[in-house]
Amino acid sequence: MTRNSRFPGFYRLSLEERRRLTAEALGLDVREMTRALSGGGIDCATADKTIENVVGTYALPFAFGLNIKVNGVDYVAPMVIEEPSVVAAASNAARIVRDGGGFHAEADLPIMISQVQLDDVADPASAARAIVEHKAELIALANRAVPSLVARGGGAVDLETRDLGDGIFVVHILVDCRDAMGANLVNTVAEEVAPRIASLTRGRMGLRILSNLSDQRCVRVRASIPVNALSLDAHSGEEVRDGIVRASRFAERDVYRATTHNKGVMNGVDAVVVATGNDWRAVEAGAHAYAARSGRYSPLCTWRVGDDGSLLGYLEMPLALGIVGGPSRVHQGARVALQACGVKSAQELAMVVACVGMASNLAALRALATDGIQRGHMLLHARTVAIAVGAVGDLVERVAEEIHLRGNVTMDGARLALARLTGNPAVDELDSARVVVTQ
Ligand code: MEV
Repeated sequence: MTRNSRFPGFYRLSLEERRRLTAEALGLDVREMTRALSGGGIDCATADKTIENVVGTYALPFAFGLNIKVNGVDYVAPMVIEEPSVVAAASNAARIVRDGGGFHAEADLPIMISQVQLDDVADPASAARAIVEHKAELIALANRAVPSLVARGGGAVDLETRDLGDGIFVVHILVDCRDAMGANLVNTVAEEVAPRIASLTRGRMGLRILSNLSDQRCVRVRASIPVNALSLDAHSGEEVRDGIVRASRFAERDVYRATTHNKGVMNGVDAVVVATGNDWRAVEAGAHAYAARSGRYSPLCTWRVGDDGSLLGYLEMPLALGIVGGPSRVHQGARVALQACGVKSAQELAMVVACVGMASNLAALRALATDGIQRGHMLLHARTVAIAVGAVGDLVERVAEEIHLRGNVTMDGARLALARLTGNPAVDELDSARVVVTQ
């Protein structure tokens, strides 16, 4: 089946129509999708078996990011996020990237690092030699601890040693986790091989745990965007392109800006990571450590002008994600998310996630480099305010538009607009004029 991620006018459809359209296009069962996504994806009884001290469940909006083309293939990106405008902005940016042929992405093998700490290692050079000499034995020992992973074509593949000084010595066991995120597998490996490593290095065994700096498991994304596709309102494509490159240089030189720049990348990344039931704390920890790997915290995504005048984007980050195990087993929403995304491997998911991160960054910089983000944000924020004062159905849009047009995106403004639109006689124009603009 040829997959499609272009659904023009999607936002104008009703929720039911959106489900029907995407279920049909993605080969999903619409009833199953509706059941899974109406109740937040997890019931209380299941939640109670998942973590401790459960008193309920907590749902967030689940949306589809559209227009995403990666290596010539279309993907719909499941996104769970509470922040207005992220999904629309990423979808819009992905549509612009399509004009240049879409995203080009590559993912490393899904290799995680298992760390074994040794203390009191008197002779680090001999310890390193002993590990190298017993590499085959240690890899075999590690693999005996994870037979099902080995059966799926993964397992321990290599070892590294690091002398941290003052008798602290670390052995890394590199484990190919295939389609799992791999935290449990890697921790099992560390605990299994640590005693033998301690005896070989003549050290005292310390921690045995994965590293969340999964820098062996990186994704790289490139995009080349024709300058004409970048124009926005009165701003020419060249103007927008140059503004984005200036914004990139700012982030490359300033940690304060780089942090916000990367927050924009993570808006897209985390939304898909959460939707697919993956560990976003692990992804966040890894992303920021990777951003600081040179000693200076830097942007994960950078932008330059290409020889032909196009805008060139480059993103590189670690992404430890799984499509098997973890919450995807018990969370119906995560299951639907993975089905909708249609990825066949953890590497493919990582590429889609990284592309949504680049799209989010592009959208933010395009807005910031022109009129700023508040204009677009305010209309979306206006919808949230309209819902908060009780607008339902098409009144949400009408109240939002009215308070946005009046420059009065407040609860009071929305109450007045709602009363006026529903024909409440107690409200007159003077009332609304008195409301102070607070946003
Ligand atoms: C807001 O969630 C994200 C931005 O601040 C990112 C950026 O400044 O690049 C708009």
